[in-house]
Amino acid sequence: MTKAYERLLKCYQCFKDKINFKPEVALVLGSGLGDYADTIRVEAVLDYHDIEGFPVSTVSGHKGRFVFGYVGDVPVVIMQGRVHYYEGYSMEDVVLPTRLMKMMGARVLFLTNASGSVNYDYKAGDFMMITDQISNFVPSPLIGPNEEMLGERFSDMSEIYRKDLCEIIRGAAADLQIPLQEGTYIQLSGPNFETPHEVKMCRILGGDAVGMSTACEAIAANHMGMKVCGISCISNLGCGMTDQPLSAEEVKETADRVAPLFKQLITESIVRIGKMI
Ligand code: HPA
Repeated sequence: MTKAYERLLKCYQCFKDKINFKPEVALVLGSGLGDYADTIRVEAVLDYHDIEGFPVSTVSGHKGRFVFGYVGDVPVVIMQGRVHYYEGYSMEDVVLPTRLMKMMGARVLFLTNASGSVNYDYKAGDFMMITDQISNFVPSPLIGPNEEMLGERFSDMSEIYRKDLCEIIRGAAADLQIPLQEGTYIQLSGPNFETPHEVKMCRILGGDAVGMSTACEAIAANHMGMKVCGISCISNLGCGMTDQPLSAEEVKETADRVAPLFKQLITESIVRIGKMI
């Protein structure tokens, strides 16, 4: 058994000792969405601090806890606060929560984030359904001894963001009359924002949105056979696309402004996903 898996089992035991709940969908909340967890029918809460060996986020404004409950009739586990690579954690730490949510029973991983656009057709406040990703600017979370209990050594990544889930999200957005972009997410390490030429590079590589999370979580989930989907809130245009400098305040402001619509889209999508699984 690998060390990473041993640690995961310990975290799982901690969860089992405290919580009696089996989620079907795991939802990771990005910037601006934190209070979504308070709007669902909550059954239980588990602070990251109360899980032995669990990496605890240091980003201000990110709560650190799992919230268990129901979106419609769908049992969910929500990560209120994720762990970022730029905080100094190893990739093993960063994806431990994702792996733990799979162990809890979740078969679907719904990822959300705030990200910068590198696509000139997008504007701040848009939503982008992630259809594929580029993650090579950060280490793969699968580096190291492979844990066969989790998945294969050489894991297929041809359809990380499942077409059937994308179709559900597309339908939910259309019925709610929420415009939805679709594109490729690029993860860079952060924590600094990109330079104008890095933004240009992302565009040339085929990216549409750039951020500092998500892609590594999606790889770990896909490795374990979870079905993954994701939506980015485009909080800003990438550096150099406007003549304004970029700030964390601008990211937060936009994410907060469109959060009500984002929440509607997430709820409707999860209710529909629940009917499919
Ligand atoms: N770049 C990287 N990450 C981000 C951005 C950005 O422009 N906006 C929000 N997260």
